[in-house]
This record gives sequence, C-alpha cells and structure tokens, in this order.
Amino acid sequence: MGRMVATSFRELVLTRRSVRMFRQDPVSPDLIGDLLTAVQWAPSPHNTQPWRFTILSESGRHRLATAMALALARDLEAGGVPGREIARQTGRSRLRIASAPAALLCSLSGDGLREYSDERLSALEWQMAVQSVGGALQTLFLLAHERGLGTCWMAAPMYCPDDVRLALDLPADEHPQALVLLGFPDQPGKVRARRPFDEVVRHR
Ligand SMILES: Cc1cc2nc3c(=O)[nH]c(=O)nc-3n(C[C@H](O)[C@H](O)[C@H](O)COP(=O)(O)O)c2cc1C
Repeated sequence: MGRMVATSFRELVLTRRSVRMFRQDPVSPDLIGDLLTAVQWAPSPHNTQPWRFTILSESGRHRLATAMALALARDLEAGGVPGREIARQTGRSRLRIASAPAALLCSLSGDGLREYSDERLSALEWQMAVQSVGGALQTLFLLAHERGLGTCWMAAPMYCPDDVRLALDLPADEHPQALVLLGFPDQPGKVRARRPFDEVVRHR
C-alpha cells in the first residue's frame, strides 16, 4: 500500500485515522525530532508548555510494555477477571506496543503550573494543562499524518503512572498521559462514524 498524501490541511484533518497496524519500515529519529520541534508551538495556558515527550528506545519500550502489562494484570486480577482473559488482554497490549516501529510517551509536567491555595483553582490549572497536552498530541498526529505516518493514542500509561515513572526513570512531577505509537500504516485505520453535526453543534 502506497503512502497516502493529503493535499490540503482540511483533507489532512479529515483523513487522519488511528492506525494500529504498521509496516515494519523504521521511522527515522530525525523525522520524529522534526515533528516534535513543530509540536512545541502548540498553545498552552500562560505558555507553560506542560507536555514532555519521552522517545522510547527498544529497551525503554520493552520496560514500559512489561510494566504496563503487570499493572494491567494486577488491576484485572483485583477485579476478579479470570487468568485466561488476563493473559489475552496483557498479550494483546504487549504485542501492539512491540509491533509499532516507534513509540513515545507523552507526560504532563507539573513544573511551571501555577500553585493556588484554592483547590478549585488548582484543579482548573491542572485541567488546562491536560487540555493543552491533548492539543499538542493532536498537532503531533496531524504533522505525522502529513508525512504519511500513522499514529495511535494509547491511554494505558494513565492507569499506572507510578509503574511508568519507575520503568522509564521519569521525574516525580511528570504525569504519564499517553503512549503514542508511530509508523507507516500497514492498512488504513478503520473509519469510525461521527455523530450527526446537529448533535455536537448548537446555536443559542
Ligand atoms: C484521550 C484518548 C484516549 C485514547 N485511548 C486509546 C487507547 O487506549 N487505545 C486505542 O486503541 N485507541 C485509543 N484512542 C483512539 C480512539 O479510539 C480513536 O481516536 C477514536 O475511536 C476515533 O477514531 P479515529 O482516531 O480513527 O478517528 C484514544 C483517543 C483519545 C483521544
């Protein structure tokens, strides 16, 4: 399958799909660096730029996948899920992470966030940081798509932040938000229907 080349920004936005099956072609570190250089221009509250990206080596990725699989098994076990099902889910997660040619972890840094004695204001400060991490990730996904790269957002690291910090030796004030898988698509991502326009847009 040839690389899809979108011809306009609007087309890029419309054709980006989450990709979960990749060709084995490597993704060059220069290309990843190039994407992340542009991502830094995403907007953030009082320009805090709270996103941090950890580009994973083969061994970093292995450590992360192992830590997340153990954490998932622990959670499933606590929920009374049978062993066979635990093995299936952890195996699928590990395989998916291992089969992407490149992966990076995006975390939220608490460094630079405003501190308030008011709990409500602190919670909102945090919420804005989370919003801007989402914006940075969407920027990354569109830039990647422009270069023919597929991406997938995996929420798993959020579920076991301590395990992730330990596996990747991250600072204590970094909060794992997403694992991003990157690679040239093996198949186009499945098109998932959108809600009707009138359901998500209203006039008042
Ligand atoms: C915050 C967030 C978390 C997500 N977590 C996962 C995930 O853990 N695993 C996964 O396969 N896809 C995940 N996705 C991708 C969504 O499933 C996908 O964006 C959605 O189904 C729409 O499909 P599309 O991206 O192909 O348009 C996540 C997306 C977002 C924005």
